[in-house]
Amino acid sequence: MSISLTFADIIAPMDPKQFFGDYFGRKPCHIPGDAAKFEQVMSWPILGDLVNMSGIWASENLRIIRDREALPNEAYCTQDKDRRNHAALTPHPEKVKALLEDGCSLALNRIDTLTPGLRALANALESQLFGRAQINLYYSRKEVQAFSAHNDGHDVHAIHCGGEKDWIIYDFRADNPINHPNFKPSPDERDRLKGKPMMELTMKPGDYLYIPRGQYHEALSSTDQCVHLACGVTHVIGLDLMTLAWEQAMAHPLFRANVPPNVGPRSAADQRAYLVELAKVMANTMASIEFQELVTQFQANFRNTRGSVSFPVAVGPDGGPLRPEPSAPAPALAVLARKREKA
Ligand SMILES: [Fe+2]
Repeated sequence: MSISLTFADIIAPMDPKQFFGDYFGRKPCHIPGDAAKFEQVMSWPILGDLVNMSGIWASENLRIIRDREALPNEAYCTQDKDRRNHAALTPHPEKVKALLEDGCSLALNRIDTLTPGLRALANALESQLFGRAQINLYYSRKEVQAFSAHNDGHDVHAIHCGGEKDWIIYDFRADNPINHPNFKPSPDERDRLKGKPMMELTMKPGDYLYIPRGQYHEALSSTDQCVHLACGVTHVIGLDLMTLAWEQAMAHPLFRANVPPNVGPRSAADQRAYLVELAKVMANTMASIEFQELVTQFQANFRNTRGSVSFPVAVGPDGGPLRPEPSAPAPALAVLARKREKA
């Protein structure tokens, strides 16, 4: 089964021109939608099927949260074998069920390859945004807050699927934060930094919310049985280009030369001259058309791999019912039959 979804579908009824002109990379945007808008992507049966695929879950990608704190693995996992037959702590379905019934929240991480709808959603985001999309799902009970005010190191495209959730977007936006300990303020610092509320809204099924990277926000489920998909889209940033630049530098003899030590009467000047030359080589490399072509290619490939295999192979999507064709016996069977007749 394949599901067709475009970025324009996701943000409808807003026109993509307006979204990219007024909001993308600039400010948050809430777009209310029809309750059925995303039901192909996520519904109660789809969520149930997902959670019940117990073989795919590990403590790293299925988390249970109580009072804003992720529970320790031992609270909901048991020692088992994973899909590679390795010993692992894996979520136990009955323990997970009991904790959810007791009011805990559930987070399913990195689910963008797991169902046709989630693949379609992630592909639609990546095809328009030139970034890498990862989808997490949050399920929470009434008036439960999974996370206090925070900012994310990537853009967030939130899709609301069940229940209602109140969001507060604050006016402080961190300056291009990244996923690194240096950019992870403590809860007290976050509370001090977040600023004043600039948008307060209630997300209902079918709604879409865009939060640019760094913008402080928090959410609290206002009804029971609340589900939303947080689609994080990471874009290529300058730091990513250091890897490309490193590969180019390797080809230049100056970058492979020994660095003059800063010891002795001439050494400081020699070292300085060397560093100035290195900087010139790197500046010329990164400003070249060839390097720009590498960057363009890198950006075009900066997306996650999701399968498009369909069966029967080479027939196309939805290739028909999985049953043998009423045709002549397969060649191998015909050969065996002839052998039996001769015997
Ligand atoms: Fe967030």
